[in-house]
Amino acid sequence: MPRILLLGGTSEAAEMARILARAGLWAVYSYAGRTQSPVAQPLPLRVGGFGGVDGLRAYLAREAITHVIDATHPFAAQMSRNAIAACRAQGVALCGFERLPWVAQTGDRWTSVPDMEAAASALPIEARRVFLAIGRQHIGLFGAVPQHHYLLRLVDPPTLPLPVPDCRVVLARGPFLEDEDLALLQEHRIDLVVAKNAGGTGARAKIDAARRLGLPVLMIERPETGARLVFHAAEDVMGWLGHGL
Ligand SMILES: NC(=O)c1ccc[n+]([C@@H]2O[C@H](COP(=O)([O-])OP(=O)(O)OC[C@H]3O[C@@H](n4cnc5c(N)ncnc54)[C@H](OP(=O)(O)O)[C@@H]3O)[C@@H](O)[C@H]2O)c1
Repeated sequence: MPRILLLGGTSEAAEMARILARAGLWAVYSYAGRTQSPVAQPLPLRVGGFGGVDGLRAYLAREAITHVIDATHPFAAQMSRNAIAACRAQGVALCGFERLPWVAQTGDRWTSVPDMEAAASALPIEARRVFLAIGRQHIGLFGAVPQHHYLLRLVDPPTLPLPVPDCRVVLARGPFLEDEDLALLQEHRIDLVVAKNAGGTGARAKIDAARRLGLPVLMIERPETGARLVFHAAEDVMGWLGHGL
């Protein structure tokens, strides 16, 4: 029987956890511990970083893990790189389970940028009302362009002063609905959206809403994680584990 480590924090990981639990497979779900009240999962949980590649290697050995499913967010690149290195060193099988990136449709007004720094640099000089839909971690980069008004959507209330002087925070946890995000953009008179190309359905409401309002989007492309086997469907992951759905 495989002993599985599921690296989580996404709706894909929640889907995978439900399937693994239903199949009665031995698996543990790993959260980074970023949010104050993580969503409950139908698998045993562990919470917090492993301590880099060496820490993850030690964990894999201690728990006799045979398979790692990396279902972290496409922008959680450090964790994915660590998983590649640790699994290779330990001889543990690894697959990524991730959503496909979004592709621009007719009516989208996207400007693609390679990373967060490039997104901050690509903002116009004139003050704009910006929906900065990038989560909490990288807001500091936008302190360098403080002339804009920023709308931030966060899961937990900020515990430290925010690095952008003119901002409003709304607290919410996805998945989000298109009509609600349309209302949010209108209520806050947003004229530009900054988003990560997360893919999937839970976060795309703002992108669909921006298209409906004809708003420009600065779309941050995904970071490189390194070479690994990747699946986009849970049934393929189960096949890889040697179990049908
Ligand atoms: N980045 C995003 O946009 C985003 C969006 C939604 C959800 N998330 C979720 O939030 C979590 C953190 O994302 P991040 O972008 O901060 O990751 P990251 O930058 O790639 O990872 C930084 C460190 O956090 C720890 N870590 C990350 N994911 C972990 C997991 N599932 N279990 C245990 N430790 C984990 C690892 O610490 P050690 O080196 O100590 O092992 C990792 O080196 C992930 O679970 C991710 O799926 C991220």
